[in-house]
Amino acid sequence: MKKAVLLFSFGLCLTVFAAEPVAPKPLNTTCPVSGKAADPKITWVYEDQTFAFADEASRQKFEADRAASLYQKLGGKAALEAAVELFYVKVLADKRVNHYFEDISMIKQKRKQKEFLAAALGGPNPYVGKDLRTAHADLDGLNDTHFDAIAEHLQATLQELKVDPALIAQAMAIVGSTRDAVLNRPQSAKP
Ligand code: HEM
Repeated sequence: MKKAVLLFSFGLCLTVFAAEPVAPKPLNTTCPVSGKAADPKITWVYEDQTFAFADEASRQKFEADRAASLYQKLGGKAALEAAVELFYVKVLADKRVNHYFEDISMIKQKRKQKEFLAAALGGPNPYVGKDLRTAHADLDGLNDTHFDAIAEHLQATLQELKVDPALIAQAMAIVGSTRDAVLNRPQSAKP
C-alpha cells in the first residue's frame, strides 16, 4: 500500500513538472559571426539553443566553426559539464589549493567555469564573466605551484573520462595560455 502511495505521489510530481512550461531563450539580436543585426528568419539550432544570423554566409560559418571546434570534439556541453563537476571534486580534495575556495559558492563557480571553458574551447557562446586577471587578483599568494595543481586536476579529469590524448593536449595548451592572466603578471612574449 505504502509503495502504491509513493508511486502515485511520484507520478503526480512528474505530471506537475511536465506541465510546467519552459520559457524559450529569446533569440539573439546581434549576429554572432558578423556583429551586424541578426535576421530572426535565418537561424540554426545547436545544443537546443537557436541562434540567429545576419545572413546565410554567417550561418554557414558558425556551423562550420562548431564542427571544427575542440569543444564539439570533446563531446560538447554535456561532456564539458561532467568534466567540470569531476574536476572540482579533485580540486576541493587537494590541500594545495582548496583553501582558496573556502568562501566561494561552488554552484556559481562550477557554472562560471563551465561557461568559461566552453567559450575557450570553441563553444557557441562568448564568456561574459569577469576577465581572468580581475577574477584572480585578490587571491593572496597565488603562484605557479597553484596553477600547476589546477591544470594537473583538469588533465587527470580528462584522462579519467577517456578523452583522446591529442585532444587533451590541445585543451591543456588553451588552459596553459591563461597562466599569466590568472597569476596577474605581464603577458609573456609569444614564441
Ligand atoms: C587554470 C586556469 C584557470 C582558469 C581557466 C580559471 C577560471 C576561472 C573562472 C572562469 C572564474 C570565474 C570568474 C568570474 O567570476 O567570472 C574563476 C574564479 C576563481 N578561481 Fe580560477 N581559474 C584558473 C586557475 C585558478 C587557480 C590556480 C586558482 C587557485 C588555486 C583559482 C581559484 C579561483 C577562485 C577562488 C575563484 C573565485 C574568485 C571569486 O569569486 O572571488 N583559479 N576562475
